This record gives sequence, structure tokens and C-alpha cells, in this order.
Amino acid sequence: MGTILRKAFLEHVGQTSPSPMMIEVARAEGVFFYTPSGKRYYDLVAGVSVSNVGHANPAVVRAVQEQAGRYMHIMVYGEMVERPQVEYAVRIASLLPDPLESVYFVNSGAEAVEGAMKLAKRCTGRTEIISMRRAYHGSTQGAMSLMGTPEGEEWKNAFRPLLPDVRSIEFNSFDELQCITGRTACVIAEPVQGEAGVRPPADDYLQALRRRCDEVGAMLVFDEIQTGFGRTGEMFASVKYGVTPDIVCLAKALGGGMPLGAFVASREVMNTLTVNPTLGHITTFGGHPVCCAAGLAALDYIVENRLAEKAEAKGALYESLLADHPQVKEIRRSGLLLAVELGSSDKMFAMMEMFAREGIMSDWFLYCDTAFRISPPLTISEDEIRDSAHIIRKCLDRL
Ligand SMILES: Cc1ncc(COP(=O)(O)O)c(C=O)c1O
Repeated sequence: MGTILRKAFLEHVGQTSPSPMMIEVARAEGVFFYTPSGKRYYDLVAGVSVSNVGHANPAVVRAVQEQAGRYMHIMVYGEMVERPQVEYAVRIASLLPDPLESVYFVNSGAEAVEGAMKLAKRCTGRTEIISMRRAYHGSTQGAMSLMGTPEGEEWKNAFRPLLPDVRSIEFNSFDELQCITGRTACVIAEPVQGEAGVRPPADDYLQALRRRCDEVGAMLVFDEIQTGFGRTGEMFASVKYGVTPDIVCLAKALGGGMPLGAFVASREVMNTLTVNPTLGHITTFGGHPVCCAAGLAALDYIVENRLAEKAEAKGALYESLLADHPQVKEIRRSGLLLAVELGSSDKMFAMMEMFAREGIMSDWFLYCDTAFRISPPLTISEDEIRDSAHIIRKCLDRL
């Protein structure tokens, strides 16, 4: 059966690379997933920071089942009062700093970024958008335009023409903040760069970025799609680093394992999308009630179990267990988001082969294939961290 399924996968499911991992998933629970033959994998990717509350979390499963039984899709987003959307929006607003209080739900991270860009253009009447080098904000043509130059050219060049009037600056360069001017509608940044290979902000950089945006009247957009919901040791990285953006983009863990995205702004800013033209931004499935119910259950679970606070100590434990290995050049980390730098892509790919055999799911970063990722569910226990780090060290020994 496995062979037939894999053949059908290759023939009928659209592929994203010439050599997919092809591990068949039978079920998943906590920090593990299992193949049909019962082989167990530590999931150290968590769907790229999606499964923060662990796989098959009973609270999330229950919320999905209950909401699916009540109602699923009724009408395009924004027309009806649907309790799961409203309750989740209220909860998100209560956790974000003022004035971020109005939540526009969409289906994915890229769509949240698209909405944020449109909102910034609409509010400022300007067109220029500035992103960071080695940024990843999604694969739609708008979000892809933000990939930054020169590192993003490999992807952008294959799909031009993309959005005009986009330029990139170096993350953490104070000098390049001068490129933000009175022409700039918005600057979009990940507070901790994810696909650059986990690059936290330099001291005071995000504050300086905020100040420069205020000076020239540009809006500041934070992409918290990877960093949100406890990953960096606070519920949101903007809170961790003490800088409030004008718009924040959320997705991944937002849906508790279901597809959901959102962009959040003040009510005044968000209301500009309601007129001139009316229906200027619409989505059929955005804020799907089942996804919102799942997300709210996951968020409650994070808060009740203090998973955000615990993420810092868990990340620090991984770091302490791996940093002294002679093959490890550096560990870059924010909370429980780690890049283990090996300084060589050959070594990193050799690790991937060993990981597959030893039951570890990890991967590398879009712009950094010399380091591997550790971003497990935030529910991972101390024993599981020690055991998986032990397996990782055994693989490092064999390099
Ligand atoms: C920081 C960041 N922004 C945006 C996205 C795009 O999200 P999606 O794949 O849901 O469109 C990703 C996905 O990896 C991401 O890491």
C-alpha cells in the first residue's frame, strides 16, 4: 500500500521540489509523528512553528469537533456575526499592545501580508514598500516581491514582473534606515528573521526602525507569522522586544494546526478597508469558524500552561546540550526557535540523512542551508529535549 500511495503522491499531488522527503504519516501526537510501520519521529519543525501546542492536542481536537458539528462555512468573511471569529478576535486583541485591536482574518500567512500591504498603501496614499534582505513573507506574487535583493533574486527572477516600487534594506543596519523616506508606505520586518536562519534583532534596532518610520510617516508592519504565539519566549516578539507596529501579520500557530491567517491594526486604520471602494479586500474562507475555534482553544492552552514563558528555558536547554559539540559553529536562538550552524551545507545535508534514519524531523532555512532548525512544539518536555539532543549529538559525532 505504501508503495502505491507514494507513486500516486508523485503522479497526482503537486510537488514543490524535485526530491520530496516522502515520509508517510499515519498519525501524530504531542511532539511525535508516526509512519504506518510505527516508526517514530521527533517533530523538530512543527510544520514550521505551526504545531505550538503539540499534535492532536485534545483541547484543539474537541474544539474542532464541536464547531464542525455546529456550523462550518456560512457566508464570505465579514458579513455575519460568527461567535468563534468574534471571541478569537477579542482574545487576540487583549494580548496585543494598544492600539492593535481590529483583526482581519484570512487563510494563510501570505494572504495576511497581502492584506497588510494593501492596508498600508490605502492609509498612507503612498506606494513604496521596504522589506528586509533575506526576508520571507510568503509565495504569492505580492509577498514574493518582498523577498529582498540580492538573496531573493533566485526566486523573484523566475516569476517577474512582480510588484513595482519595492526595495530592500539590511536587517540590523542602523545606517540603512535612512532609505525609509516620505515616499515609503510601509516597512515590513520579521522581528526575528526566520528563514534567514534565525537572526534576532540587534539591541535597539527595532526601536530605531520604529522611530524612523514615525519620523517619515511610514507604517511599520511586523510579520509575526513564525515568531507569534509563544515561540520566542513571549506571546509575541513585538512584546518581547518592546516595539509596537502599526500592523501585525499572524498565521501558522494562529490556527492551532488549522489554516488561518490575520492582519491586525487599530480600528481606525482597519476601517479604511471598508470604503473607497467598499469590498476592497474580501475573502471567502477567511476566519473559518472551525479554524477560529481551533486557534482559540490552542491559544487558551498556551496561556493556561504558560508555554510562552517556558519556551525560553526549553530553548536554553537545547542550546546548552548542543553548543559545546565540536561540529557546532554557532547556535542562533530566540526562545524555542534555534538554528544550529554547522558552517557547511554538505554537513547539514549529511545530518538530514542521518536524522531521517534516526527518527528526527528537522530541516534547513530558505536562505541558510548550513544550519538546521530546531522549533519543536512548545509542549516538548525536558526529557524529550534531552533525548532528542542526545540523538542529534550522536549524528554530529558521525559527521
Ligand atoms: C515569516 C513568514 N511569513 C510568511 C510566511 C508565509 O506563510 P504561508 O505559508 O502561510 O503563506 C512564512 C512561511 O513560512 C513565514 O515564515
